[in-house]
Amino acid sequence: MMKERTLSIIKPDAVTKNVIGQIYSRFENAGLKIIAARMVHLSYADAEKFYAVHKNQFFFKNLIKFMISGPIMIQVLEGEDAIAKHRKLMGETDPKKADKGTIRSDFSESIDANTIHGSDAPKTAAIEIAFFFPEMNIYSRYSITSGTP
Ligand code: CMP
Repeated sequence: MMKERTLSIIKPDAVTKNVIGQIYSRFENAGLKIIAARMVHLSYADAEKFYAVHKNQFFFKNLIKFMISGPIMIQVLEGEDAIAKHRKLMGETDPKKADKGTIRSDFSESIDANTIHGSDAPKTAAIEIAFFFPEMNIYSRYSITSGTP
């Protein structure tokens, strides 16, 4: 097992439903620590930049339109196998195919309004984290007494 960081975005549908706290509890119950967080209402240009990898996909325009439809909650999660753990909590991209008990199965309306985004690999996690958070705004938490994570 490896200590990792991943970028997690709670999308406009879930922010509107007021379920940020319920989703955060799932992260914490799975042993993931929130080490940075901010709420952002993305501009069209920033949403396009963040999702540039999907630029040629048929769903790109809808994706951008949805992602700028309201504020999103962005966090960096840290823990053992954080990328895989977070993706397991999220469930399949299409909520109809997501396992019961996953975030998308429980909260999502459609493949567009699918509640949550998570990095898919260490390299993309590093790029996505740097897109939203300078290193100085990330707080890996250490025990005050022992000085160890
Ligand atoms: P996300 O993990 O944020 O990454 C890209 C997003 O595009 C994805 O979640 C979906 O919300 C959205 N999307 C819409 N249609 C599709 C599709 N057919 N395949 C994959 N992603 C899609």
